[in-house]
Amino acid sequence: MRAKIIGTGSYLPEKIASNDDLSTLMDTSDEWIKSRTGICERHLVSSETENTLSMAVNAGKAALADANLTPEEVDLIIVATVSSDFITPSTACMVQRELGAFHAAAFDINAACSGFLFALNTVDAYFQAGIYQTALIIGVETLSKIIDWNDRSTCVLFGDGAGAAVLQASEDGIIASLQGSNGAGANVLMCKSRSNNNPYISTDTNPDYLYMNGQEVFKFAVKKEPECIQEILAQTGLAPTDITWYLLHQANYRIISSIAKKLKLPLDKFPSNVDRCGNTSAASIPILLDEVHRAGKLTKGDLLLLSGFGAGLTWGAALLRW
Ligand code: UT7
Repeated sequence: MRAKIIGTGSYLPEKIASNDDLSTLMDTSDEWIKSRTGICERHLVSSETENTLSMAVNAGKAALADANLTPEEVDLIIVATVSSDFITPSTACMVQRELGAFHAAAFDINAACSGFLFALNTVDAYFQAGIYQTALIIGVETLSKIIDWNDRSTCVLFGDGAGAAVLQASEDGIIASLQGSNGAGANVLMCKSRSNNNPYISTDTNPDYLYMNGQEVFKFAVKKEPECIQEILAQTGLAPTDITWYLLHQANYRIISSIAKKLKLPLDKFPSNVDRCGNTSAASIPILLDEVHRAGKLTKGDLLLLSGFGAGLTWGAALLRW
């Protein structure tokens, strides 16, 4: 049995910050951000009660309603995030509590922007092994709390939000998936955890924010993601034109355009919301999937290719039948 998506959901904070809004806070401009990335605005949490957990719960509830399932029917919850509210317990365990999904095992995955794909692949492996039958996976990020608002080269790129999918063990669904990592590239995109203050170590207790070498990440993305897509197509013998929709990680519209060009495909096969959401890391693919689904653009039998890349470095892809 493979993993089939039977419901999707998403949540975006109400507060929207446009490029012009940011240019009143720092030395940047709508022209610079839009021409470099395609981003026009992003959603940002704007109250204490709106956080990683609340967004994950909202997206999860919407996905369960779409799948017409009750929380008790879920036997696995995986949350992909790099911006949990707590170091422990996992966001997934707290989502389980909030939803009342008490029959589920729950844990988090940290694979940065590839996290949702790693969660999908993990669920598919569990289903193939016959261990679980119904899963809820959520990609959620409150990146606005880990980015350095004094670093204009990163803070304008990211947004907050959550996306979710309900998966059921089925004869069809995922056709192929792959994931990869290269820790040798760890230092091009990183965010240090809290410093150690045990009595034997004297460390700097300043909070550490997200650091990114944008150009290195860009080079990695435009090389690795098309390779990853070509590899998964080769595994299945499908041609790039056989895919109905490419749902890619929404980091930068120039990266998406470059991938479309390498695959010799028109851009209208690549739905995008990076203009409205910015880069929401692990949440970006499931938010996009939910938007495309709710817009009525998915027909039973469509072939979807999901692919992304991120810190780690990590990358992944999944090819599935809707
Ligand atoms: O999920 C994975 C996440 N990461 C990515 O996908 C990021 C991939 N990388 C990129 O998208 C691009 O590298 C960026 C959009 C981050 C940057 O674009 P770039 O064309 O590589 O710009 P740059 O870093 O080379 O900076 C060019 C100039 C610099 O000024 P000087 O040194 O040429 O005078 C920067 O200081 O742009 C300046 N700059 C800005 N100016 C206005 C950097 N950030 C800003 C800004 N507004 N926000």
